[in-house]
Amino acid sequence: MIDLRHVGKSFTGPQGTVEALRDISLHIAAGEIFGIIGRSGAGKSTLIRCINLLERPSRGQVLVDGRDLTALGAADLRGARREIGMIFQHFNLLSSRNVFDNVALPLQLRGESRPAIEAKVTPLLELVGLADKAERYPAELSGGQKQRVGIARALATGPKVLLCDEATSALDPETTEQILALIKELRDRLKLTVVLITHEMAVVKEIADRLAVMEQGRVIEQGATFDVFTRPQHDTTRSFVADLIGFDLPPMLQRRIAADDADSRNPGKWGWRLLRILFTGPHADDPVIAELSRNLDLDISILHGRIDEIQGRPFGTMVVRLPDDAAKVAAARSYLAARQLFVEELGHVHRLDRAAG
Ligand SMILES: Nc1ncnc2c1ncn2[C@@H]1O[C@H](COP(=O)(O)OP(=O)(O)OP(=O)(O)O)[C@@H](O)[C@H]1O
Ligand SMILES: [Mg+2]
Repeated sequence: MIDLRHVGKSFTGPQGTVEALRDISLHIAAGEIFGIIGRSGAGKSTLIRCINLLERPSRGQVLVDGRDLTALGAADLRGARREIGMIFQHFNLLSSRNVFDNVALPLQLRGESRPAIEAKVTPLLELVGLADKAERYPAELSGGQKQRVGIARALATGPKVLLCDEATSALDPETTEQILALIKELRDRLKLTVVLITHEMAVVKEIADRLAVMEQGRVIEQGATFDVFTRPQHDTTRSFVADLIGFDLPPMLQRRIAADDADSRNPGKWGWRLLRILFTGPHADDPVIAELSRNLDLDISILHGRIDEIQGRPFGTMVVRLPDDAAKVAAARSYLAARQLFVEELGHVHRLDRAAG
């Protein structure tokens, strides 16, 4: 549905040239919710604004529903933009217009008759849960209600694509969840393709089918949300998902590993090895710790663990401690690998009695 081909964008100002986007190629399929995350200044807003040509790319092509928007003249571009709705962090409603007239605005702008407008706006207000608020003004609405108006207005021209720029960043967590649920429902009912940019991983985790991670104008990683969250490849991605997924170890444990690993001149002192096991896939529910201990006669203890859900799929991480015995560790690793559980070695720690002494 959306194809970005080698898109670049430079801004030239008094301080010189900023490369906001560098050679971005992305394919977003019809009907998917695609998340884009990145730190402030990574280029997220510039990228999403290039999808409807609010920002004209300096290089590359933007294809939406098979049409190359970068090649269209002004009139054709106006037409193509009706296929693309957009919502914003601060809603961008007109305070002098009531809810109905805010939603009606894009239809009035293209000269539709009052009855035609009513026939479209009334069901839209119902769809977003604001049927009883048509006569209210933005100042009388909560943030969540304002974003519902923004969504209804974005959908007024019957677009196939909905672009969301930090659409929930000004909302509290509960309202965020309601708006995300609404976006999901609308995607299903109206067969929308949704592009959603955010700096909140919790949002992406909740709603995105796939995601791209941006840094300094580039896409550094992309894939199915579950895969990127459970197996982040890039350090930046890792830091994004760390606390949501339980990659972050408790500080005390981190300090011990760091201190003991630095002590590598005394290899004879090692007491334990730490492994992190990721529980995904068909064997995620197997009682592997009990089996490891029983079948391999391993003295294994659990130091840290966490279970979570990503897009409705369970996912767990566990940090375990094994004796620093190369043969036993290798046996444990091959046992886990055979069950398609991903294992990562975190380091060594001394036995507590020696570390203390
Ligand atoms: N109109 C502009 N003129 C000059 N530079 C710009 C313009 N718009 C964006 N930039 C620059 O492009 C880079 C990317 O900005 P962008 O707004 O796309 O980032 P972002 O990822 O959306 O950040 P945030 O999370 O803060 O919204 C930044 O360095 C920014 O300063
Ligand atoms: Mg932005």
